Amino acid sequence: MDEIEEAIRVMNAVSSHSFSRVRAPSLRSKIMTAKEAAALIPSGARVGMSGFTGSGHPKEVPIELARRIEASHALGEPFKISVWTGASTAPELDGALAKANAMEMRLPYQSDPVCRRRINAGEMDYTDIHLSHVAQYAWFGFLGHLDFAVIEVAGIREDGALIPSSSVGNNETWLDMADRIILEVNSWQSAALEGMHDIYAYTDRPPNRRPIPLTSPGERIGEPYFRCDPKKIVAIVETHDADRNTEFTAPDAVSQAIAEHILDFFDCEVRHGRMPRNLLPLQSGVGNIANAVMAGLEKGSYEGLTAYTEVLQDGMLHLLRSGKLTMASATALSLSDHAMKEFLADVDFYRERIVLRPQDISNHPEVIRRLGVIAMNGMIEADIYGNVNSTHIAGTSIMNGIGGSGDFARNAYTSIFMTPSTRKNGAISCIVPMVSHVDHTEHDVQVIVTEQGMADLRGLSPKARARVIIDNCAHPDWQPALNEYFDLAMRLSPGRHTPHLMEEAFGFLPKWKAAGARRVSGDEPV
Ligand code: COA
Repeated sequence: MDEIEEAIRVMNAVSSHSFSRVRAPSLRSKIMTAKEAAALIPSGARVGMSGFTGSGHPKEVPIELARRIEASHALGEPFKISVWTGASTAPELDGALAKANAMEMRLPYQSDPVCRRRINAGEMDYTDIHLSHVAQYAWFGFLGHLDFAVIEVAGIREDGALIPSSSVGNNETWLDMADRIILEVNSWQSAALEGMHDIYAYTDRPPNRRPIPLTSPGERIGEPYFRCDPKKIVAIVETHDADRNTEFTAPDAVSQAIAEHILDFFDCEVRHGRMPRNLLPLQSGVGNIANAVMAGLEKGSYEGLTAYTEVLQDGMLHLLRSGKLTMASATALSLSDHAMKEFLADVDFYRERIVLRPQDISNHPEVIRRLGVIAMNGMIEADIYGNVNSTHIAGTSIMNGIGGSGDFARNAYTSIFMTPSTRKNGAISCIVPMVSHVDHTEHDVQVIVTEQGMADLRGLSPKARARVIIDNCAHPDWQPALNEYFDLAMRLSPGRHTPHLMEEAFGFLPKWKAAGARRVSGDEPV
């Protein structure tokens, strides 16, 4: 057994013996099985659950609830719930409930394949909301009443304070708003997470909202615990289950090339005095490309970096370890199994350098604008004028959702979108005449990067943007078709500010027709 494994084994032995995590004596009588807890949730309930990008989600109650709902359906009894989360969760939550066809409606971001199939088949409703908006929509009463909160925590202190686990998300809001609370107390989560969180309850309503007093990524403005009314706790379930922790693929040539273009761009910005020598707080989206950019920064010469981001992935953890990144603020850890082991083996080191916050603070436009964040997010496609589609395939099928990309892109100091120039072995161009769905308008997109190159769109007119996007970012195999479209539009478009030919934009290129007909992967019936 290597050193890391041994450290984790010792830590778990110390921290996981029974009852050690439920230290409030008055709450011990609420301990029950996941099956008993799931039986408390009735059909029609709106349930706010913890969970953000595979971490901190309840792992046993949703599975038992899905079983119960499947059993009801087998008897011909209708049973559905609505599920509100922080963002995507894992097979034990979204996967299990979607498989049981248990969700009437779900919000916000999801990335589960079964859930995606149900949504795209029209079998469940999905409300895709900017992640910073979710808590305030709930507070303002836009989403209706919340019946239950099912929240994973790392422990309950003697005074009843709840120690958050590996993600914070909207938990504080669900705990405040729900009539009844079910807690999963997960002893797999490190007890040493205590103190890493900064829970700032932002419940003021307009016109009496105060500024959020956060002026640097590492500042703490709240307290490390959730508080809730103990009378609302109806069940506590003790669990010992791992977060999802999917592995990242090693950066390939395409993601490495994208990372290099972004690093060249940073160099240029620093040379011209538009960014300081330690850059500005970094936000990095989900996925392998984002991870490759972090790997590039690790090899590069930048020191004293900070991050004000939503999800902390492997790349950022390694940057913290190497000392290049001095502080990271996020709402969730989303680490591979290997990186999670590194994290658990030295939580004390990371607790000094990571702050986990509620997602309405980690993604808050006011703070993002004040700090001058550099936003880097993946996309599905961009059009030649710089509009970006992050969510839909061929205009009608959802892939995941907008997540925090809109929160960051619109309010960032610099907003970068990145993608391989083609998908499906070159059959689909990710640079298109007109995006089939717009998540980020031309006004919110400053820089587009593919493995082919970088298009700096700042200050350019639509026509100038089209030139630079086609020349720098489109794959050479697709450049002639894009140029043909743009030239034709320049000649025949009724308006010449943003020249378009509506029919041709989607129809005249046979390859585009084929691409348009393609359905999102995993669209087969559940
Ligand atoms: N046309 C058709 N399919 C496309 C496509 C396009 N233009 N672009 C991507 N895809 C497909 C891929 O081929 C892949 O399909 P597969 O599973 O059958 O292979 C699938 O979409 C996902 O691709 P993947 O390589 O996993 O994507 P990614 O890791 O680069 O992520 C997004 C790209 C856009 C899906 C992802 O960044 C996302 O969900 N973004 C929105 C939310 C966000 O930005 N959050 C961060 C804020 S902090």
